[in-house]
Amino acid sequence: MPTKELRPGIYAVGSLDRDRKLFDELIPLPDGTTYNAYLIKGSEKTALIDTVDPAKAEELFSNLKKAGITQLDYVISNHAEQDHSGSIPHVLKAFPEAMVVTNLKCKDFLKSLLMIPEEKFITRGDHEILSLGDRTLEFLIAPWVHWPETMLTYLKEDGILFSCDLFGAHLATSDLFADDDARVYESAKRYYAEIMMPFRSNIVSHLRKLQSYDIKMIAPSHGPVHAKSPFIVDAYADWVSDNVKNEVVLPFVSMHGSTRAMVDHFIDALMKRSITVKPFNMPRTDIGELAIALVDAATIILAAPTVLVGPHPTVAYAAFLANALRPKTRFASVIGSFGWGTQVIERLGGLMTNLKVEMIEPVVIKGYPTVDDLKKLDLLADAVLAKHKAAGIGI
Ligand code: FEO
Repeated sequence: MPTKELRPGIYAVGSLDRDRKLFDELIPLPDGTTYNAYLIKGSEKTALIDTVDPAKAEELFSNLKKAGITQLDYVISNHAEQDHSGSIPHVLKAFPEAMVVTNLKCKDFLKSLLMIPEEKFITRGDHEILSLGDRTLEFLIAPWVHWPETMLTYLKEDGILFSCDLFGAHLATSDLFADDDARVYESAKRYYAEIMMPFRSNIVSHLRKLQSYDIKMIAPSHGPVHAKSPFIVDAYADWVSDNVKNEVVLPFVSMHGSTRAMVDHFIDALMKRSITVKPFNMPRTDIGELAIALVDAATIILAAPTVLVGPHPTVAYAAFLANALRPKTRFASVIGSFGWGTQVIERLGGLMTNLKVEMIEPVVIKGYPTVDDLKKLDLLADAVLAKHKAAGIGI
């Protein structure tokens, strides 16, 4: 990523990673990602905010060179995860005078993950500052976005919030700023769903804390910079709110067509009742798309045939993911078919104990669905509608 100027003396010096297709060997990256690092020149001191994934360290150094950096005073570490911290040892080697500035918990992580010695650290607590001369950094401790040591850095004079992973997006775009782009919204929502959603209540309190700051620009550690900050702040406020939509998320799989016949009928039944339904055929699903759907949906219904008494593993995976991501979903149920015996309801229920959902009577049937079985699915659709209406959800 070529060096780009956010403001006079403030540069984006991170890297683009268009080719990365998977993060943590788990999360699909359909649009690649960026590892954002920012250079701030003050009248007396120069600071680098975060670094890049070590695989991209050369790009960081090339950008620092283009920015004319021959000396560096501080490396601010907002987050110890290696896609941002992993090049700190390289930076310290190239700029031996530089000190790492972070909070106590992050220091502990950086020492154990990257073997950075104790004497290289300066620590700061919540609301404490670091002067660069005519520019001042204030550190805001913001745990659990998405590790316990995360913090945000606010550049007071310019009103720029360097927000670490918060407000980020896995989107390798050459545009430095991309506020009103629908693609940015979708990527940011995907990022929220996959990374931030389990920490919704923490984010609520962080958003409240940020209200007292005059934020003119948000510079996250992934994706484009938000120069019109309300766009992303408003989106987050919506996602973390308790509001849900009149939607059913329906992860499913079918082996021989019985569960598929139930799913097809049930989708029609929900649509007839004006309920939006988002089906995901699990063996072919991008789990990021499933996570996005879980951000707002009122209800999740798992559709699984029985395999060795339990649910088909791909739907068990959907239940496991939903349980880990902790969406604000209010209702849940199970549908599916079995051959000779099943514990699919109990086992799927046991995989979703983190979800604060009310279970609606499942429809799990033997063999191919009969006319009576399909009527049970109509009754389940009626029950979903009634629950949504009673909760005042988008009807
Ligand atoms: Fe982008 Fe949590 O690291």
